[in-house]
Amino acid sequence: MIHLHVEGEAVNSKLRIHETIKCDVLIIGCGGAGLRCAVEIFEKMPGTRVIAVTKVPHPQKSHTSTAQGGLAAVDPDDPVDSPAYHMFDTWKGSDCMADQNIVKKIVESAWTQVIWLENHGMHFSRDEAGNLSKRTFGGHTLNFGQSSAFRAVFEADRTGKGIVDTLWGEALKGGISFINQSIATELLFEGKRCVGAVIFREKYGDFVKVLARATVLATGGSGQMFRVTTNCRQNTADGLALALRAGLPIMDPEAVQFHPTGIVGPGILASETLRSVGGILRNRDLEPFMERYAPRMKELAPRDLVARAIEKEIREGRGVLNPDHNVEHVWIDLRHLPDYVHDVQIPEVTGFFRRFVNIDPRKELCPVRPSNHYHMGGIPTNEFGEVQRGAKETVPGLIAVGECAAASFHGFNRLGTNSLLELITMGKIAGERIIEYLSQDPDTLPEVSPERTFSLFARFMDEKGEENTGRLRQEMQAVMTEKAGVFRTEHGLSDAVDSLRELYERAGHTSLSSKSLRMNQELVQRWEFDNLLAISMACALAALNRRESRGAHFREDFPERNDEFNHHTLVYMSEFGKVDFGKRPVDMSIYAAGGENYEKFGLIERKY
Ligand code: FUM
Repeated sequence: MIHLHVEGEAVNSKLRIHETIKCDVLIIGCGGAGLRCAVEIFEKMPGTRVIAVTKVPHPQKSHTSTAQGGLAAVDPDDPVDSPAYHMFDTWKGSDCMADQNIVKKIVESAWTQVIWLENHGMHFSRDEAGNLSKRTFGGHTLNFGQSSAFRAVFEADRTGKGIVDTLWGEALKGGISFINQSIATELLFEGKRCVGAVIFREKYGDFVKVLARATVLATGGSGQMFRVTTNCRQNTADGLALALRAGLPIMDPEAVQFHPTGIVGPGILASETLRSVGGILRNRDLEPFMERYAPRMKELAPRDLVARAIEKEIREGRGVLNPDHNVEHVWIDLRHLPDYVHDVQIPEVTGFFRRFVNIDPRKELCPVRPSNHYHMGGIPTNEFGEVQRGAKETVPGLIAVGECAAASFHGFNRLGTNSLLELITMGKIAGERIIEYLSQDPDTLPEVSPERTFSLFARFMDEKGEENTGRLRQEMQAVMTEKAGVFRTEHGLSDAVDSLRELYERAGHTSLSSKSLRMNQELVQRWEFDNLLAISMACALAALNRRESRGAHFREDFPERNDEFNHHTLVYMSEFGKVDFGKRPVDMSIYAAGGENYEKFGLIERKY
């Protein structure tokens, strides 16, 4: 194997830094969080040199643009809703694992963020009186759980697209420079301070060093760890793996959300909006089974609960076999909904059913089953988005926002529509923090060299053998789905760990059919597979370690929540499969403040 550590010494002459670029802020990832951060910086500090790197051919193709349902925000003019209810719902939904300082900060600024988007041109749907339309989502309630709260604003069922388009336009106005179809392969450090990253530009097949006074990780999720996911093809846990390789921890990797209703087969999101507008889940006997699992909230119980209910129906023989995909599923019944709802409120999803499973939701039952959706775990940050090295110490110059980060607003189960809220709010907060940081930080950037990129890529290029990355990836996805999915056990998770070790070994026997660096998808997929394996391993080991059930992490052998585990898990991985665990306490500052209704923010029971 070739080991190349020093810039310019590459045995393979292509493995070298082609160019060094300097800027004030480097943003890795151009979804809602990264772009919102950029726009905040431009508004408050015009002229800041911001470079944003995206894996996809165009920022508008970022995964945020696929978000359908809405953005949760309490309207201050709403006579019945209150931020306290939203905070309570988020806390309860998280199974007492969200950090209350973050919950308060995000919920209290939510409506301001909605108005900001509207003022920057986003087309929120409006009702006949001209007010912003609102819909309800699972786990969002009034009066601490009494009835459903209508607090999600939306743009039909393509809210994420509205957000990305708005932010993209604003970022362009500010003077952002995009580097498209490129990946960050290594964070660069001077001592403990992050000073940029190495970027591999797929189109040119070269590596550039981007030195930046502040670096933002906004790389999105890790859904490709699982066989069926609502996530885009590019969500391969890249930012998390980047952090682990730099010796930084990731937090709560075992906290993975499965959306109850993925369209059977492709797993594409069939928005919770369908249940919000009255869609009913039915089993093989057409029974509306949610009444048995969540008598009050039924279809609008939180996702972890609904996903488990569906899986249980299937396990107990009340599922339906889909002959095209050879998988079992339940139905979502939309046939009774008025045409107006189909045409105006859920046109995209209705179209997905027509296109992908050839079903007309006005006339037929639609097949759905849980699909991996969101990673609550991620790179630990404080309330300003600053990345943490341990439970408190931060990494100067490094920020993380959006799904790749864990602040943690969602704890162990995210409520629908809270992610768009989080990415918009944390993007803004991170932008503000960066401005403060830039005004204190000297405008000098050190000459540092990459330490890992070239040895990693040389390894991928030198591997020889008969294995195939694509097939190995499918095996990994099957292992994670079966052993680390909706239901988990000690036995299954131990099996998953063994399988992941074996897959890692076998990955060393893949060989690239082309050694070219330019537009070499196979090479990028090999790198992605390394990322996915690392985060899958972190997830499986952390899930094994958490011998309790909490939110979306359900251990059949430990079905109850256990106070011993009232803490976040920090996972460090010095080499593949070798982990050290740390702990970060859960912030319970609302409870500790002892104000009105403080007892609702204690270690409450979770019934719906
Ligand atoms: O179901 C949905 O529309 C998804 C929303 C979300 O994940 O927040």
